[in-house]
Parts: sequence; C-alpha cells; structure tokens
Amino acid sequence: MTPKLEVSGLGYSYHTMEGETPALSDISFSIEAGEFLAVVGPSGCGKSTLLSLLSGLLKAETGEIRIDGRPLSESRSDIGYMLQRDHLFEWRSILSNVSLGLEIQRKKDAAHIGRVHELLDLYALRALSPPAPRSSPAGCASGPR
Ligand SMILES: Nc1ncnc2c1ncn2[C@@H]1O[C@H](COP(=O)(O)OP(=O)(O)O)[C@@H](O)[C@H]1O
Ligand SMILES: [Mg+2]
Repeated sequence: MTPKLEVSGLGYSYHTMEGETPALSDISFSIEAGEFLAVVGPSGCGKSTLLSLLSGLLKAETGEIRIDGRPLSESRSDIGYMLQRDHLFEWRSILSNVSLGLEIQRKKDAAHIGRVHELLDLYALRALSPPAPRSSPAGCASGPR
C-alpha cells in the first residue's frame, strides 16, 4: 500500500550572513493512513524545520516528500500546520481569521464559507464569532469582516 506520507533522504540547511546551519540531514520515514507520529527531541534538533518542510513553507535541499505517492508540490493544500503560538490577527474577527487562507487563495465563496461555519459549529466557536475588534494597527481596516 502507498504510504500516506513518505519522506526520503530529507535535508535542509539555513544560510545566514554568519554561515550555514545544517538543520536536518538524511531524514527518512513513512506513515500509513491513520497512523500517529510524534517527533520528540531537544530544542534546535530540527522539529520545526521538519514541519515547515512537510507543509511546504520551506523547500527541501535534498531528498523528497510524498503525500499519497505524489510529490509534495502537487498536494500542498492538503496540509495544515498548527504553530506553537496561535498567530491570530487581533483586529480581525474569528470568522475572518479562520477564513484568511480562503481569502488569500481567492476561494472565499458561499460554499467555502458554509464549510467554515460548519467547522465553527463543530468546535463550538460560533458563539465567539464575530467578537468586537480589540485593536487596529494603523493603516489596517478595522471591524469584523
Ligand atoms: N530561520 C533560521 N535561520 C537560521 N538558523 C535557523 C533558523 N531556524 C532554525 N535554525 C537553526 O536550525 C536548527 C533547527 O532548528 P529548529 O527546526 O527550529 O529546531 P526545533 O524546532 O527542534 O527547536 C537549529 O540549529 C536552529 O538554530
Ligand atoms: Mg521548534
């Protein structure tokens, strides 16, 4: 069976003015559908780099990532990445934070917004949406959208 996620020979280095930091080298593993994988290690061992590569935020220097047998570049929109901090925009409503990805992809149509409302209900977040705006950085439109 084709693994859900297949990583082979993955490598990545950061390049800065101070020099090169090899973050990951020759990482290989595969996960079947429904499997749960925890990546554990000390600070700086490359966990966030791995997640950024898997979600397409960084491009692998070496190796390959496959989802359902297809290269990552063909299936990037299937992947979500929950960061350590929420990184919500305080001046936007819950609804407009949740639908920001749709907005960027120009997919904020009735069908997609309907799905957003379903998910807000599922996670009991509808009651919080739309909240009063808390603050508005200079130059940004204010108020719930
Ligand atoms: N933006 C960056 N620029 C330069 N080096 C970085 C950057 N991000 C991470 N690193 C370095 O890459 C290595 C792996 O970091 P990271 O993936 O953040 O580890 P972890 O998430 O496990 O703490 C560390 O040595 C870190 O200092
Ligand atoms: Mg990290």
